[in-house]
Amino acid sequence: MARLASALLLAQTLLLSCLVDAQQKPQALGTRRSFYTVPSTMQIPVVQSTKYGQTEPGYMFINVLNRTAPWITPMILTDDGDLVWYSTEISFGPLRPQTYQNKTVLTTWIGTTNPEGLGWGQVNMFDDTYTLIKNVTLQPPNFQTFDHTKYSSYVDVHESQMTTDGSMLVIAVNITTANMSSVGGPGHGYVIDGQFYEIDVATNKVLFSWSALNHSSEIPLDDSVLPLTTSISGNGTSFEEPWGYFHMNSVAKYGSNYLISVRLLCSIFLIGPQGNVIWRLSGMDGGDFRLGANTHFCYQHDARILHQDADKVTITMHDNGNTEFDNNTVTRALALDIDMNTKLVTVNRTMRNPNDPIFAVSQGSYQTLANGHVLTGHGAWPVAEEFDAQNNITMTFQFGDSYDVSSYRAYKAPWSPKPAHPPVAVAFSNTAGNATTVYMSWNGATDVESWNVYAGANESSIAKVTSVQRSGFETPAHLDQKYGVIQVEAVRSDNGGTMNSTVVKVTAGGK
Ligand SMILES: *[C@@H]1O[C@H](CO)[C@@H](O)[C@H](O)[C@H]1NC(C)=O
Ligand SMILES: *[C@@H]1O[C@H](CO)[C@@H](O)[C@H](O)[C@H]1NC(C)=O
Ligand SMILES: *[C@@H]1O[C@H](CO)[C@@H](O)[C@H](O)[C@H]1NC(C)=O
Ligand SMILES: *[C@@H]1O[C@H](CO)[C@@H](O)[C@H](O)[C@H]1NC(C)=O
Ligand SMILES: *[C@@H]1O[C@H](CO)[C@@H](O)[C@H](O)[C@H]1NC(C)=O
Ligand SMILES: *[C@@H]1O[C@H](CO)[C@@H](O)[C@H](O)[C@H]1NC(C)=O
Ligand SMILES: *[C@@H]1O[C@H](CO)[C@@H](O)[C@H](O)[C@H]1NC(C)=O
Ligand SMILES: *[C@@H]1O[C@H](CO)[C@@H](O)[C@H](O)[C@H]1NC(C)=O
Ligand SMILES: *[C@@H]1O[C@H](CO)[C@@H](O)[C@H](O)[C@H]1NC(C)=O
Ligand SMILES: *[C@@H]1O[C@H](CO)[C@@H](O)[C@H](O)[C@H]1NC(C)=O
Ligand SMILES: *[C@@H]1O[C@H](CO)[C@@H](O)[C@H](O)[C@H]1NC(C)=O
Ligand SMILES: *[C@@H]1O[C@H](CO)[C@@H](O)[C@H](O)[C@H]1NC(C)=O
Repeated sequence: MARLASALLLAQTLLLSCLVDAQQKPQALGTRRSFYTVPSTMQIPVVQSTKYGQTEPGYMFINVLNRTAPWITPMILTDDGDLVWYSTEISFGPLRPQTYQNKTVLTTWIGTTNPEGLGWGQVNMFDDTYTLIKNVTLQPPNFQTFDHTKYSSYVDVHESQMTTDGSMLVIAVNITTANMSSVGGPGHGYVIDGQFYEIDVATNKVLFSWSALNHSSEIPLDDSVLPLTTSISGNGTSFEEPWGYFHMNSVAKYGSNYLISVRLLCSIFLIGPQGNVIWRLSGMDGGDFRLGANTHFCYQHDARILHQDADKVTITMHDNGNTEFDNNTVTRALALDIDMNTKLVTVNRTMRNPNDPIFAVSQGSYQTLANGHVLTGHGAWPVAEEFDAQNNITMTFQFGDSYDVSSYRAYKAPWSPKPAHPPVAVAFSNTAGNATTVYMSWNGATDVESWNVYAGANESSIAKVTSVQRSGFETPAHLDQKYGVIQVEAVRSDNGGTMNSTVVKVTAGGK
């Protein structure tokens, strides 16, 4: 219930940012795909993948939210758009494989979100059998929420980045008081403090914490571009209407420093181990640097350091260019070089689809793939794009209509799961009573090669009747006889073994 309520709240909020210029609207895709072996309550959106060139191998990881319906479906797909895995558990934020204790795990966020897209929850970690193995939680002292609700954990939706030391970087938001006179607000104002935490995953102990307000002498409130009156924030006059001036959306650790992306300052900061600001890159005026041609950025997401040495730092990001109250700039995937000697910022690479400009008012991601390729997720706009080393587009991966549908980030990665749960089958006999159709799938498996189908009048007479090649997420098999029960056995490639479904009664029904 709580999860559905949170999805609804989120939906209502994001609805505010759904107005779309008709000209910008991508081609409408159908609502959902239906499968016999997937619960009819699940919403699996139609996906349209278009390839223009060689793409990097890997599966697509998206957390698809339909704001108007509303529903959220976490999904893994092939980059041709074939479904591999869906989850019935509503989650949000980044859905992605990461490395923990030298193993590939799947991480995602669950919890409650509010109309501003902020959240209070935990990060769940699954192993490659899709079994929950860890949850990363945060219980900071005296945390305050809009409606004074207390939660068991206060991890915000925006980040869940593993470090190489077995810790995870997360964001949290706290409502507190501040003097807002510098921005024309009340002297006794209420603001949302942006914080980040490094948490040891094994113990959930906080290893490091940082608060924007603790550093307001270095990062004053009037650096924010957020007006006092917008649809996405309160104006700071009461505890229930705090001014969300900061809005951090990514954290990553390099050595002992932390790189943070702050959306509403259009800035990226490098924070030192004492919490000090080492430098600030502003997409508006450069900050500690000088902006060269075409290097302005704003409302950015997912900032990472691609390369760093004494002379040069290369930063990658999703440069939204737009936000709910300012949206007339074409969104791009952007890499910037900072010359640490001359302080000049230059474009390393910039990527967008020249034939289909995107205006992403929120969310988004930039992922560096092998061979110079880049995958960018456009957040509020339901498209991920892959570019090659020459910055030419090689794929568009679309999973919905315009601003109805979004995925906070999109990732592409190898994934070799071994689902612990069994395959699923359903079967129907025809009206004439002389044939049976079987539908079978194994949610989350990537290496099913074929299916053995067993059938009989009852469980004791069950015997193998046919073998069929896998054909997509759900494979049908047509049997030219009526049976009472069936059972299916998924056969993995490369002698990877088999796994059976339960024995399933055939439904009389003429399908
Ligand atoms: C985005 O910009 C267009 C045209 O400038 C405008 O019609 C639309 O309302 C804006 N959308 C949002 C979410 O601000
Ligand atoms: C999202 O929901 C709306 C409203 O129900 C529906 O019209 C639209 O087709 C849905 N989009 C997808 C991709 O399911
Ligand atoms: C991970 O692998 C490295 C290199 O093989 C090894 O030194 C380290 O102990 C491993 N860590 C864990 C948690 O297994
Ligand atoms: C947290 O993870 C543990 C397994 O490590 C699991 O037993 C527990 O149910 C999880 N709690 C929640 C709230 O997900
Ligand atoms: C959160 O804000 C409250 C004031 O509303 C303050 O008392 C508390 O110390 C803050 N907690 C943290 C972890 O910043
Ligand atoms: C807020 O800051 C302004 C400017 O520094 C100062 O004049 C005012 O007294 C402060 N208000 C409060 C309530 O501290
Ligand atoms: C903010 O500073 C106070 C005082 O130094 C400290 O106790 C608190 O932990 C800091 N907050 C965070 C989130 O680091
Ligand atoms: C601040 O917002 C509240 C709630 O929307 C509104 O009642 C109040 O008039 C606003 N105050 C100012 C100074 O804008
Ligand atoms: C972009 O940055 C990377 C990492 O610093 C570097 O290897 C590459 O040469 C740069 N590309 C251009 C065009 O400057
Ligand atoms: C790829 O990009 C290069 C450099 O921008 C350009 O010259 C070339 O025409 C592009 N190739 C294709 C197939 O679009
Ligand atoms: C099943 O029965 C129908 C109607 O008698 C007949 O047309 C059809 O060929 C039969 N199918 C099989 C597989 O025997
Ligand atoms: C699957 O079920 C069939 C029929 O019951 C049986 O013959 C086969 O050994 C089972 N396979 C496995 C891996 O259990």
